[in-house]
Amino acid sequence: MTSWTEFWGGKHSIYVSPRHVEAHFRRLTEDLAAALPHQAGLRILDYGSGDALGAPSLAAFGHQIALYDASAEVQARIARRYDGDPRIAVLDDRALASSDGSFDAIIVSSVIQYIPRDALPATIARWRRLLVPHGILVIADVMRPDAGMAEDVADLLGFAWKERFLSAALLGLFRTFFSDYRRVRRALGLSRYTGQEFLALLAAGGFQAEALPQNPGPNCHRLGFRGTRA
Ligand SMILES: C[S@@+](CC[C@H](N)C(=O)[O-])C[C@H]1O[C@@H](n2cnc3c(N)ncnc32)[C@H](O)[C@@H]1O
Repeated sequence: MTSWTEFWGGKHSIYVSPRHVEAHFRRLTEDLAAALPHQAGLRILDYGSGDALGAPSLAAFGHQIALYDASAEVQARIARRYDGDPRIAVLDDRALASSDGSFDAIIVSSVIQYIPRDALPATIARWRRLLVPHGILVIADVMRPDAGMAEDVADLLGFAWKERFLSAALLGLFRTFFSDYRRVRRALGLSRYTGQEFLALLAAGGFQAEALPQNPGPNCHRLGFRGTRA
């Protein structure tokens, strides 16, 4: 496996059970909705959306949702899932390239770690171009340099206990231990940032940004940010 998009496009066991998938997207969507402006009718881009099972709940706030994922396989899966839903559009690379100035808000959850460090400034500049003036950027799940697999495991088990899928989580961890994920994580690495470092990158990219008091979604130890296009 040579890239993270290849990993996410294929079959993986990161979500340990259907209950985990449902709880993950429910919690993430509630938290992201709380971090977005509280008004209906926003045009929201979910960048690195993955399977985007929270999109209908976010659309239910009266928003128009556009989904983009770098993996062509994920794009095809979500295009099939939301075919015919007028509130949700799936963008391919060409459609995204012609969408400058089209969004009131962009959400980026659990994606920063897969973007190589030297590519992040250009990606932040791209988000800036996609937003309207004063548009909002919400970023979730930034991995800290001082946190590793142990913190991820602790978050998963805490969430599993609360959402009642603990046995599936323990089995899932066992499977993950022997799966591609650990090998790929070791081979490809993950981009990590301190809060200060990430805020400085957002400021340099033209965002007035602040750290969120709590990371949106189930991973309590990771970092969340909210920026306004300056
Ligand atoms: C961990 S999943 C996150 C899915 C969803 N946003 C969530 O929080 O549950 C990461 C997703 O980001 C996508 N991705 C990775 N690198 C990307 C990039 N540079 N641009 C856009 N999407 C990317 C992957 O294909 C994958 O679907």
